[in-house]
Amino acid sequence: MEVQNDGKCCVPDCDSTGHLSGKFDSHSTLNMCPIYHNLTGDDCRQRYGRRVQRRQDRSDANRRELRQKAANSPNTKEDRCAALIENRRKEMQKDVLTVSPSKAQSPNKAHKQKTSSREPDLKGLTPIFDMDMFREAQARAAELIQEQLAAEQEVKRAGIGLVEMGRYEMTVWYSSPYPEEYQCLPKLYICEFCLKYTNSPLILKRHLHKCVRRYPPGDEIYRKGNISFFEVDGETNKQFCQNLCLLAKLFLDHKTLYFDVEPFLFYIMTEADAEGCHIVGYFSKEKQSFLAYNVSCILTLPPYQRQGFGRMLIDFSYLLTKTEGKVGSPEKPLSDLGLISYRSYWKQVILEYLSSYEGKDISIKNVSSQTGINAYDIVSTLQSMGMLKYWKGKHLVLTQKEILDEFRVKLKKRKNPKLIDPKCLHWTPKTK
Ligand code: ACO
Ligand code: ZN
Repeated sequence: MEVQNDGKCCVPDCDSTGHLSGKFDSHSTLNMCPIYHNLTGDDCRQRYGRRVQRRQDRSDANRRELRQKAANSPNTKEDRCAALIENRRKEMQKDVLTVSPSKAQSPNKAHKQKTSSREPDLKGLTPIFDMDMFREAQARAAELIQEQLAAEQEVKRAGIGLVEMGRYEMTVWYSSPYPEEYQCLPKLYICEFCLKYTNSPLILKRHLHKCVRRYPPGDEIYRKGNISFFEVDGETNKQFCQNLCLLAKLFLDHKTLYFDVEPFLFYIMTEADAEGCHIVGYFSKEKQSFLAYNVSCILTLPPYQRQGFGRMLIDFSYLLTKTEGKVGSPEKPLSDLGLISYRSYWKQVILEYLSSYEGKDISIKNVSSQTGINAYDIVSTLQSMGMLKYWKGKHLVLTQKEILDEFRVKLKKRKNPKLIDPKCLHWTPKTK
């Protein structure tokens, strides 16, 4: 099938409008092109209309005939079929005997008109009936091809639907720029330890026999219980980080970092068992951020979401920022889920601070340096809780008792909160 890259028909002078089947408004290949078949889009549409009409007439006539026969005689089913076939034969005979008026034109002459960009002129070569049958077969084939193409494109557009990784199968949320040949796969198979992607379970199985990795590359900088964090440098472990970004993009709609991973550090949270360290989530961070971002992208893999791991990742990012003696903020724009999670985290940290604060005047700068949360995020969180008032040129924090009491009750209710323990961090910042 000759398809050009831009999806346009390759026949000279054709603007891709019309379709040999007459059923569609445009085409992209020579075998669906009206011009190539020495026809126009309108011809094809009319033929399609006649074809549909003929089909309808035939089935109406069949039904009428059957009803009539059933009413008139107690004939068997076989008799009725025989009568139908006889009628059809007579109809065909009439058409076969009608030869095209341009029969006089010699076949040789017709073939002389053949050009590489047009079908040979078939006029006068056969009786009208044969020619109509041939044209109808061509049109039906074009219709089928078009439908197949549309189905293939639909699969491509839908992209990868599922990812199998470790013991989990995850439904994909967004598209990700995996190589073209992986794009139209319904399912991608990923090694959960080195993040190599494959197109079949068999290839993954073979890979798993060879793969020696059981935890992310880089340094383990935190461990408490079965939870660890690994710091992975995008420059040292380029392939791993690129694969991680491609995987993350399946669950992030606005992420743009996939291949240019060298300027980033990746902090990967894992949960350990006898098999190895399973990736739960991660965040990436620019080595040098001019806008003081402390997180570029953050993700909890879907099977681990809504269990408090996102909060741990965020808390860990601020622990690093505080250890650096800085304040930070996540890169904007935040996704909806990112905003919900950050708002919830900021709210909790600020209320914790205010609950134990005993002084009189509250300084947002102090809250910021104690928590690592950028002053703008603190102000916007206080505003969203209705705890900030602008009065006589000053911002006042209203430490409303009800809000703080409600917060304390919520904290008590939280069963087994997943917390980061700063004592378990073994890390010195690379750049101060
Ligand atoms: N609906 C409502 N609330 C939610 C949802 C949800 N689907 N998901 C999380 N939350 C709330 C939780 O209830 C919790 O609030 P609470 O403590 O007040 O009860 C808070 O958000 C954090 O929940 P966690 O369980 O700790 O977070 P999770 O492990 O689910 O991870 C994350 C959150 C990382 C945002 C995750 O949803 C995710 O990976 N999403 C896809 C990727 C994404 O959007 N990342 C952020 C992009 S922005 C950026 O990268 C800077
Ligand atoms: Zn592997």
